[in-house]
Amino acid sequence: MSKFIALIPAAGSGSRMGHELPKQYLSLNNQPMIYHAINTLWQNRLITRILVILAPGDLEWFKYDWSQFSGKLVALNHGGTTRAESVLNGLIAAKQKDLVQSNDWILVHDAARPCLTSIQLENLITELAGDEVGGLLAVPVADTLKRIDASHRIIQTESRENLWQAQTPQMFRYDLLTQALHNAANANITDDASAVEALGLHPRLVLSDAYNFKVTYPQDLALAELILQERNNL
Ligand code: CTP
Ligand code: MG
Repeated sequence: MSKFIALIPAAGSGSRMGHELPKQYLSLNNQPMIYHAINTLWQNRLITRILVILAPGDLEWFKYDWSQFSGKLVALNHGGTTRAESVLNGLIAAKQKDLVQSNDWILVHDAARPCLTSIQLENLITELAGDEVGGLLAVPVADTLKRIDASHRIIQTESRENLWQAQTPQMFRYDLLTQALHNAANANITDDASAVEALGLHPRLVLSDAYNFKVTYPQDLALAELILQERNNL
């Protein structure tokens, strides 16, 4: 039986956030940001393990008490210099430690998407568990798209028909994802699906919503806080 295993790359520095502390540890609703993604993944009964990939030498992780997630949560100090490298290193290390098997589904989820809901996660798993390739959560592009020149003048308005924004989790089987990331090692990709696409495969998109946005800039942190607080008050 294939298992469902979450993998959270958490070895970034959060340069666009502009804090000294990497953004996955910035306080959000009295918890480090990464706590919220772990908590949602942990609550899903199909997900049997959560692998967190830390930057080598990351001491911040160990300042928090993660014992409420023990049994499922494993931290690995194998982060790389890019997100793709962190994911690939994590996959390889997990296999060496017998934490995953070739046919398992891997759900790669950004530490910086704290507002993922249980329903979005369940939709992803339900829609893709029987899929040949795998896929990811995504949302149709809402705004009008402009292509510009170097002086910020519009060259063209692009059609947004059939254009979607990729989110995470991105869900692929262990062997396929490992091979794809290995092949794409120097390709400058920013998500897992791109690596799979480069093999000539066509991952499927599962409809999500804007709540599952990535906290990237300082103002995103305030928005995430409002969303999580509103949920807590329901
Ligand atoms: N990530 C990682 N290893 C890296 C770079 C990024 O594990 N070398 C992780 C981040 O920790 C985050 C996810 O990949 O959970 C998405 O990346 P992003 O939002 O770009 O985070 P950062 O790279 O930390 O931020 P920035 O690009 O602003 O520096
Ligand atoms: Mg980055």
